[in-house]
Amino acid sequence: MPPSDSVPGMDVVIAGGHGKIALHLERLLADAGHRVSALIRSRDQDSDVREAGAEPVICDIEQETDLSHYVSGADAVVFAAGAGPGSGPERKKTVDRDGALKLVDAARRTGVRRYVIVSSIGADDPAGGGEQMRPYLEAKAEADRGVAESGLDWTIVRPGSLTDDPGTGQVTVTTDMSARGRVPREDVARVLAAVLGNPGSIGKTFVLIGGDTPVDEAVAAL
Ligand SMILES: NC(=O)c1ccc[n+]([C@@H]2O[C@H](COP(=O)([O-])OP(=O)(O)OC[C@H]3O[C@@H](n4cnc5c(N)ncnc54)[C@H](OP(=O)(O)O)[C@@H]3O)[C@@H](O)[C@H]2O)c1
Repeated sequence: MPPSDSVPGMDVVIAGGHGKIALHLERLLADAGHRVSALIRSRDQDSDVREAGAEPVICDIEQETDLSHYVSGADAVVFAAGAGPGSGPERKKTVDRDGALKLVDAARRTGVRRYVIVSSIGADDPAGGGEQMRPYLEAKAEADRGVAESGLDWTIVRPGSLTDDPGTGQVTVTTDMSARGRVPREDVARVLAAVLGNPGSIGKTFVLIGGDTPVDEAVAAL
């Protein structure tokens, strides 16, 4: 089976289900025949999520303490939420760090093995990102640490600066944490879909930026 072919009929839960990457991922997974549950904060986001082929589920990951109910029975969970650039340090903790860790706890409690997280370049060295980025990168670093120590079948994806450019289907993935660059959100979603279908990516942490290697090939080479 080519590495890009996800296991048919997976049930995937995406935290941050109305995010830009998440919506791309929902389309890709739904088109490939998977069932996707998108955790969102507002009923206003229902139609976008449904249009992308996913089932909207209201779940504010900051308000909920236990996400077990939302992930129970899934084959995989993806953490694609983020407090966003307009938020202060406190929400980096409550969303980017604690949201990801709550999802880890829920996956462990309910026996969901597969966990994929959208982290960030620079999460390996929060101090190196400068004072402004530090709270964000610290939150991402702590989340990644919790994921890596979870005992789950995890993959940590660290994209470079995100753009809304159309995806090219070609990327660079590297374990060189000093690599820097930009990457379209659509290509991040393609990589996440490929990762979900490729057990060889389990236990891997990598930087993802634009490049010239087809997504499937790049993920297969991890
Ligand atoms: N910007 C960059 O250059 C960059 C680089 C590397 C990595 N990243 C990371 O990539 C990830 C995804 O990026 P993106 O552009 O797809 O982000 P996005 O469009 O901002 O999506 C993030 C989603 O998280 C949701 N969210 C926030 N708080 C929540 C809560 N309490 N409960 C449930 N959902 C909540 C938001 O919901 P609402 O719509 O309700 O606010 C939003 O839909 C983020 O983790 C980001 O930090 C970003």
